[in-house]
Amino acid sequence: MNEFEPPEDVTLWRYIIALALLGTVTIGFWLRWSLAGAWELTLDFSHLRHAHSHLGYFGLLFPLAWLGWRRRGASIPGPYASMLYALCTAVTCLGFAFDGYGPVAIAGSTFIATCWIWSAVGLLRDAHESDDPLGVVPWGIFVSLLCIPPIALSLRSDPELAREFVSTFLAGLLLLVIVPSAVAGRHISLGPWPLLFATGLSGALFLGVAEHPVTRIGLLAHAGLLLALIRSTKLGFHTRCVWGVVSFGLGAMALNILPNTRPVALGAIHFLILGPVLATLAPLWFRCPLPEWVWWLGHASWGGMSAALIAQEFITSPWTWKIAAIGGTMTALWWMFALIYQWSAANGWEPTHQQRRPPHPHA
Ligand code: HEM
Repeated sequence: MNEFEPPEDVTLWRYIIALALLGTVTIGFWLRWSLAGAWELTLDFSHLRHAHSHLGYFGLLFPLAWLGWRRRGASIPGPYASMLYALCTAVTCLGFAFDGYGPVAIAGSTFIATCWIWSAVGLLRDAHESDDPLGVVPWGIFVSLLCIPPIALSLRSDPELAREFVSTFLAGLLLLVIVPSAVAGRHISLGPWPLLFATGLSGALFLGVAEHPVTRIGLLAHAGLLLALIRSTKLGFHTRCVWGVVSFGLGAMALNILPNTRPVALGAIHFLILGPVLATLAPLWFRCPLPEWVWWLGHASWGGMSAALIAQEFITSPWTWKIAAIGGTMTALWWMFALIYQWSAANGWEPTHQQRRPPHPHA
């Protein structure tokens, strides 16, 4: 397989990912400006926030992770399964937007979780080398999903505990599923996978339900493992730099230089997803690579949004909300531009010679 040419059997997934990204950033933009006081929402804020985050995880991050698995030869849901999955994601997110955690959202989320477990079982059957990050992924899916029953049970009786379990769930999916799938998709190792799993799990517990000295050390160790990405010759310079930012950021949270609070967590999640994760996976998804300087504009956009969110922890100023909204707008515009660029290339517009993918040395 040529690293620079996504295989034909993932074409449908590539469109699904693009649509989910468009939907996620559009709802995010709408929410961000309502928080900045620009307009009133016509739907409930928390319902829309659920629709936004679930569309991002269901429709964007998991299908992207599957592209990473596919690149390593693992089997992923085929065209019919992908259509069903996309339809279910759309219906579930509409359910969240209009009705919150109602019957539609619960039934749809259960179906999606079943798809994840099914794909994890498939991955578990494959043999993984001791340094293959994909070894972490099925266990990451199982342990993250273990957070769902306590969330459901404590939602009404202890909302604070439920919130902590949600944080561990979101961090577990990122550190144990999405990040290992992304680096595996680029044939990068982060050391023995049991170590990656133990430190990532510890980090996810620290960021949610178990802020303990042992889990703190686990998060610090995980940040140290991610630091190896800044030296990887398989990633572009800009991608290595933003992994460095994430690694130092997680290290700063472990050392309590950055407190583990909601504004900081929101800034960290958005920067990690929009920058390093998407930049690492873009070559498996895009047909036509974007120039390095365009990526730097993108990193400045989501970097600005995330920095403003983190600043909300330290200063009370309406400017942090405005800057977050401006950064969010630039982020949304940047991804729209990136998608239009891909769409134009797919429909016959030929990029200039310099912009075309370089031939892979082993192609
Ligand atoms: C495309 C990838 C993205 C993903 C996967 C994503 C994911 C998330 C997640 C997991 C949350 C936390 C939800 C919760 O705690 O219930 C969240 C909240 C939020 N996101 Fe995003 N997001 C993305 C992009 C964006 C963008 C580009 C914007 C702005 C333009 C944005 C604006 C927001 C807002 C306003 C909130 C609610 C913040 C609050 O409750 O104070 N998101 N997002």
